[in-house]
Amino acid sequence: MKRDKRLNGFHPVDSNSSLAGKQVVIVGGTGGIGRALSRHLARRGAGVTVVGQTFRDADVSGIQFIKADLSLMSEAERVASLLPAETLDLLIFTAGIFAAPQRQETPEGIERDLAVSFLNRFVMLQAMAPRLGSQRKSGDRKPRVFVMGYPGTGEIGSPEDLNAERSYKVMAAHMNTVVGNEMLVLDAARRYPQAAFFGLNPGLIKTNIRDNLFGKNSLKSRLMEGLIGLFTPTAEAYATRITPLLLAPEIDTHSGAMFNSKGQAILPSVGLTPEYIGRFLSACDSLLARKGLRHNEA
Ligand SMILES: NC(=O)c1ccc[n+]([C@@H]2O[C@H](COP(=O)([O-])OP(=O)(O)OC[C@H]3O[C@@H](n4cnc5c(N)ncnc54)[C@H](OP(=O)(O)O)[C@@H]3O)[C@@H](O)[C@H]2O)c1
Repeated sequence: MKRDKRLNGFHPVDSNSSLAGKQVVIVGGTGGIGRALSRHLARRGAGVTVVGQTFRDADVSGIQFIKADLSLMSEAERVASLLPAETLDLLIFTAGIFAAPQRQETPEGIERDLAVSFLNRFVMLQAMAPRLGSQRKSGDRKPRVFVMGYPGTGEIGSPEDLNAERSYKVMAAHMNTVVGNEMLVLDAARRYPQAAFFGLNPGLIKTNIRDNLFGKNSLKSRLMEGLIGLFTPTAEAYATRITPLLLAPEIDTHSGAMFNSKGQAILPSVGLTPEYIGRFLSACDSLLARKGLRHNEA
């Protein structure tokens, strides 16, 4: 990952001021990093809505829950229609899994990692981005969208077999989600000036994200996560570290920027040209159409 010199020396300062009145949605805020962020922001007074399968924070004031299985695009569309895009301050995407050793498919016919870690975000953003900020008062800052993944790796993915129907390899499948998320940010930054879009690369953090790869509670999983936990920050430490960036006024004019685990700006992957991004995202549209998952445009 290479640092982005445009934002070199940028050190957001957290005033620890109250976030009362801020409206935040974290899609994937029920577990891991998203959950740590939702708890942190709610403790500071923000009104947070989390989307996920299992709510674990009913006892925390300021957090509301929308239950959804985001492996289904029909669910992504339903949730997008429920969320108040018009007035949101922060929209953060953190839901995800890791590709399994054998190809898994959702009931809608989508490779499961692609569906959970990327395609639902694509569907939700298409539905929500045009509405973002449309009912904010004059003088209010633009809404911000943070897409968590692993930007800046240099990968460009394989749009010609997005759904891994011709061949399936764990890393190739997962990389399509990684680059897909990076492209969502770059494309949205160009397409939707009414909001600002950013990529977040949290680095390695001990969570449940690798369960689908190693097997939940398996020896391999416990060993790997134990090892990761020894050398990397906790989800809570990352949430505390990254919050000043989420709120920093300085990034308003840098829509499309990506940030590493320390909140430093990094360059997007070389090769993600507007032409290539167009080709990749068209392949996403074609896949959705081929599977009959374009309900909102029918
Ligand atoms: N942890 C790392 O080392 C690492 C490294 C690089 C990038 N990232 C990225 O960081 C983000 C957060 O990952 P994490 O480590 O926090 O993972 P995590 O602990 O596994 O949490 C993932 C979240 O996704 C939700 N989720 C999973 N499947 C879902 C489904 N079918 N429907 C709805 N929600 C679903 C989970 O909700 P439920 O529990 O309610 O199902 C949970 O809230 C991901 O984008 C990941 O790619 C993580």
